[in-house]
Amino acid sequence: MIHVNQDVFYLSTQNTSYIFRVSQTGHLESLYYGRKIPFQNDFSFLGNNLRTGYGNTVAYSQADTSMSLEHLRLEYSTFGKGDYKEPSIQVEHPDSCYVSDFKYRSYEILKEKYYPAGLPSSYGDKAETLLVTVHDKALNADLNLYYTVFETCDVIVRSCKLINKGDSSFKIHNLMSAQVDLPPQDYTMLTFDGAWIRERHKNEKTLSCGTYSISSNIGTSSNRHNPFFALKEPECTEHNGNCYGFNLIYSGNHMARVEVSPHNITRIQNGINPFEFEWNLEAGQSFDTPESVMTFSSNGLNGMSQNMHKFVQDHIVRGEWQYKERPILVNNWEATYFFFNEKKILKLVDEAKSIGAEMFVLDDGWFGKRNNDKCSLGDWYVNTKKLPHGIDGLCKKVNAKGMMFGLWVEPEMVSPDSDLYRAHPDWAVTTDKYVPSQGRNQFVLDLTRDDVCDYLIDAMTNVFSMANIEYIKWDMNRHLSDIYSRQSGAHMGEFFHRYTLGLYRILDELVKRFPKILFESCSSGGNRFDLGMFCYMPQTWASDDTDSLERVKIQAGTSYGYPPSVIAAHVSGSPSYAAMRASDIENRFNVAAFGLLGYELDVTQLGKFDKSAIKKQIAYYKAHRKLFQFGKFIRLTDCFKSNVTYWQVVNKEQTESVLFHHINRHQVSEQTPYVKFAGLKEDSMYSVIVRQQGLSLKTFGEIIPSKIPGVEEDGALYTKVTDTIGLKTEKQSISPVSGEALMYAGFLPKLQFNGGGFSLTETRFMLDNSSRLYLAKEEAKQ
Ligand code: GLA
Repeated sequence: MIHVNQDVFYLSTQNTSYIFRVSQTGHLESLYYGRKIPFQNDFSFLGNNLRTGYGNTVAYSQADTSMSLEHLRLEYSTFGKGDYKEPSIQVEHPDSCYVSDFKYRSYEILKEKYYPAGLPSSYGDKAETLLVTVHDKALNADLNLYYTVFETCDVIVRSCKLINKGDSSFKIHNLMSAQVDLPPQDYTMLTFDGAWIRERHKNEKTLSCGTYSISSNIGTSSNRHNPFFALKEPECTEHNGNCYGFNLIYSGNHMARVEVSPHNITRIQNGINPFEFEWNLEAGQSFDTPESVMTFSSNGLNGMSQNMHKFVQDHIVRGEWQYKERPILVNNWEATYFFFNEKKILKLVDEAKSIGAEMFVLDDGWFGKRNNDKCSLGDWYVNTKKLPHGIDGLCKKVNAKGMMFGLWVEPEMVSPDSDLYRAHPDWAVTTDKYVPSQGRNQFVLDLTRDDVCDYLIDAMTNVFSMANIEYIKWDMNRHLSDIYSRQSGAHMGEFFHRYTLGLYRILDELVKRFPKILFESCSSGGNRFDLGMFCYMPQTWASDDTDSLERVKIQAGTSYGYPPSVIAAHVSGSPSYAAMRASDIENRFNVAAFGLLGYELDVTQLGKFDKSAIKKQIAYYKAHRKLFQFGKFIRLTDCFKSNVTYWQVVNKEQTESVLFHHINRHQVSEQTPYVKFAGLKEDSMYSVIVRQQGLSLKTFGEIIPSKIPGVEEDGALYTKVTDTIGLKTEKQSISPVSGEALMYAGFLPKLQFNGGGFSLTETRFMLDNSSRLYLAKEEAKQ
């Protein structure tokens, strides 16, 4: 709801309120953002009262010498008029003056949501948008501030548009998407940082006077610092307390900054990274910022995450696949790398089909002369040595076996050894001034150029039309460097943003041309995991790291801002090539099940034990797929702080839930904690059943061979037997049990292995890096 009363703007969602007003000086003053409070005519009691007409404070005007912009909590701050905190807008007038002062001009409640030009954005028929225009007289520019209210997910989306109303151009050095100034209060900031194969690990810092910022300058949103971040009050936990979440609908260089001022105002800003950014705004032109997303929850970090999850599902992801259950795929990358031919692929496809997978994805290596990563990016024609019947021939065979077919591409790149580069060396992002640096032996194509974007739209249209391709993995495997466009008249301060706009134009067109294709975004794993990409592609490959222990952290960190329905998660071989850590096949599945399941290992080489385990996993996932992909996700514990991780997904009706219980390291001679569910109906009765997993004989090391004469632990017979035969993990079921009991008392899992004297049917062998899934199902009412 949006309500305007004279100079007060009151925005509310189901559970939050956001209030600001026009100050006496004509600036927009923030009054409140937090738990919902009712509208009332006078909110002046929320305004600032710190006044200092003494010392070195600068008074905004001589009309009231005690009033300084430094002490107002502002909706959007400028430079040069007395507020010394970081500004949200920095412009350079034609005469090189850097001062600006935007004051209230008008407001309007828009009938339709505002969509920033050229940028992906949130959408929603019922969303109301408030437009408040502030104006700088000297610059002769309007700044439109947009606020869209998404009531049911407690989200407010903001963006700005700067309009040059004068006769000459001026420069923009910085234009944030949003600013929130909060009153004195201690906060802890949560950011999600990492690197390749270690994406989105949660980091917490206690904020005190000073500035903390996260940003990207690599050209994409990056695995360094995800654009999602949060602020929580010190006592806020996963389940209780006040916290805020922020994100940006943008895939290029971003920045988020939190400043605690010496006067205890906490200023939060996010937007395009001002680093190396300088935009020439011509007379009559305008500039739109990406949308900034913000939410508040008084139900702890899970409340905040659930708001963001709902928002992503309902107002970011769109099209054919928005709510459609995603197919279980087998991808050949870790099974074959570049070394395959049609025969080998078809063998994989047969095995994929026999374990129950629904789609086969052909990864890198199908085009040009691509037998390693040193050539052929840009040459998007089939390598007929490997695939004599082309992609179409292969796809038909895959389809004939009753499976969908998907393909990998990396369109934004060009290999120096490629026909494309030989024909268009000027299309690569390089400069003659320096020997250009390569990443994974490749250059980035200059998407600031229209001709390059047009070429890519055509090239990808050809690829996507080659066959009945139902899924595309769109990869992007290096950071940008040697930033320079060889296009005449190009201005390098605009390069990064124009690259991102070029990418969006390509994606927008391709998604329109191929509305049925399921697109998965990838950038060496999760190097471009952001809301901008999700507006075009409903899912992203979370990380090249599929080691189950690492994945617990990567998926948990990701879950703070993003729902399982966008997180692609695969089971790959053991040991994992990313961490060189062995882990059992069941644990790898249990972790991947809390995302979009796939298998990325050589399914033709599976022993009987693993194959039978995988078949059962796929059947289990299919039976609960909607729950795993679209259920409400809950973090019961914080895996960054604890040895034990519990996650849960619960369906909308609260009739079904799966709980994930994982341990990093098992401890003998210790009481097992009771397992408590959340999110069930208190007064319903449930049954709880553990998923019985395969238990490899190898678990027992020499214990079993020592009991059988002639069998040695590393002997051929033993290996054959252990690859073929497996035991089953403990059985446990509890029923009937009330929702109240499951949530407040919990239940005790079967007795954990605790030194000798175990029973193969009763003991719970949950060893290092292992897990269980417990399914709770509502029982029919008598
Ligand atoms: C990147 C991706 C991988 C795989 C390879 C292929 O590393 O993240 O999943 O597709 O490229 O070259």
